[in-house]
Amino acid sequence: MFASHMWRPWSPVASPAHPLTLVRGEGNRVRDTEGVWYLDGIAGALNASCGHGHPRLIEAAQRQMARLAHYDLVNASHPAAERITERLAALLPGDLGQTLLVNSGSEATEAAVRIALEYWRNVGAPRDRVVTFAAGYHGSTALALHLSGLPYTRSGWADLFPVHRVALPGSARSARTAADAAALAARFAEAFAAGPPPAAVVVEPLLNVGGGIVLPPGLLARIRALCDQYGTLLVVDEVFCGFGRTGRMFGFDHDGVTPDIVTMSKGISSGYVPLGAVTTTDAIKQSFQAEPLLRGLRYGHTTGGHAVAAAVASAVLDVVDEEGLVANAATRGATLLDRLGPLLAYPDVVDVRGLGLVVTVETVDPAVASAVVLGARDRGLLVRQQGACVMVIPPLTLTGDETAQLADTLLAAFDQVCRPAGDVRPAPVAAGRVDDPR
Ligand SMILES: Cc1ncc(COP(=O)(O)O)c(C=O)c1O
Repeated sequence: MFASHMWRPWSPVASPAHPLTLVRGEGNRVRDTEGVWYLDGIAGALNASCGHGHPRLIEAAQRQMARLAHYDLVNASHPAAERITERLAALLPGDLGQTLLVNSGSEATEAAVRIALEYWRNVGAPRDRVVTFAAGYHGSTALALHLSGLPYTRSGWADLFPVHRVALPGSARSARTAADAAALAARFAEAFAAGPPPAAVVVEPLLNVGGGIVLPPGLLARIRALCDQYGTLLVVDEVFCGFGRTGRMFGFDHDGVTPDIVTMSKGISSGYVPLGAVTTTDAIKQSFQAEPLLRGLRYGHTTGGHAVAAAVASAVLDVVDEEGLVANAATRGATLLDRLGPLLAYPDVVDVRGLGLVVTVETVDPAVASAVVLGARDRGLLVRQQGACVMVIPPLTLTGDETAQLADTLLAAFDQVCRPAGDVRPAPVAAGRVDDPR
């Protein structure tokens, strides 16, 4: 339809062989140029938590656009930014009450790491070591990429600061066993002890790009305890998990921990307008204002805290609350996990795992995952390929009927690509659980 003048992001992943041009979104469905409607199992860009075309969000954007599209937050303030930062302070636990608004998850990571490292300089006890997951992903700016140990994010450029990347002791599937949970916690303890006290630990509550890896319950609490022991700042990346994705408002709620810094994006504005946020404690912010250093925060973006995005974000919080989307994510996610459980008996399937509305079917080979994703699309369902994994990340507004349709369609796509031994669908087995009591 169009001449190709667009350089798509992540071009090794984006497939030009099977083009798809989308022109409309309504609720949990999107329509292509041919008039075909698809059930959206990718939630736009993993962010359309309130579904597409939500009238409340459209109205909030239009109203703000007509009043004041944006104004530089360096020189002034606007009610949209004041309101969302106030609401985040009320929503987040503990002293997490000071929010810097940015445009994306990567910028939130960039700002969070910078704030963490500069905090230690501000208090006169410089630290620069960062501990993180080798399979973590925190964005694609230089600093954010530098954290990740995933093969396709490595730049090969010199390290900006020392990063200790903790690898899982076994497979993503065995990560949920008691033995691996203990080994992983021990690896974090070793990482803390392996050099000068870390400035910060930067972790996702569930490893999204790493393959939808569900971490052992209690791990984040264990990392929080290590941070307390070493005086290290705990930075939790809620860019993907935040605002209900995992069936709790924030991923860290599963472990009941309070981070020192939280990064957010994606679901914060349901993807309607770009927005990211970094929330820190009063004490961390204060360190940037203390005399005689007066270092200040030397970081910001022209459109950071854009008024339209900020207004939409406040409307998102209303929708999430009024439509019970956090509980819906937990219920629909559990149903989906159960319905997809039989895939564990397929020889080409390695694992079925999930938490809330992040459900991942890991296959033996990226080619299998790719064939399943295309088969699902032919049946009117969009799901995401992540290496050898098929990931289902629908809007949190998914209904019961759509949950059933999604599961049936995906099972049919798997049946076409790889059938279970003997061609008999086995009885459901407990998916997403190995020793996992959750
Ligand atoms: C956990 C996590 N952090 C950070 C990012 C980067 O966000 P963005 O793509 O908005 O820069 C992502 C994106 O997928 C993510 O999943």
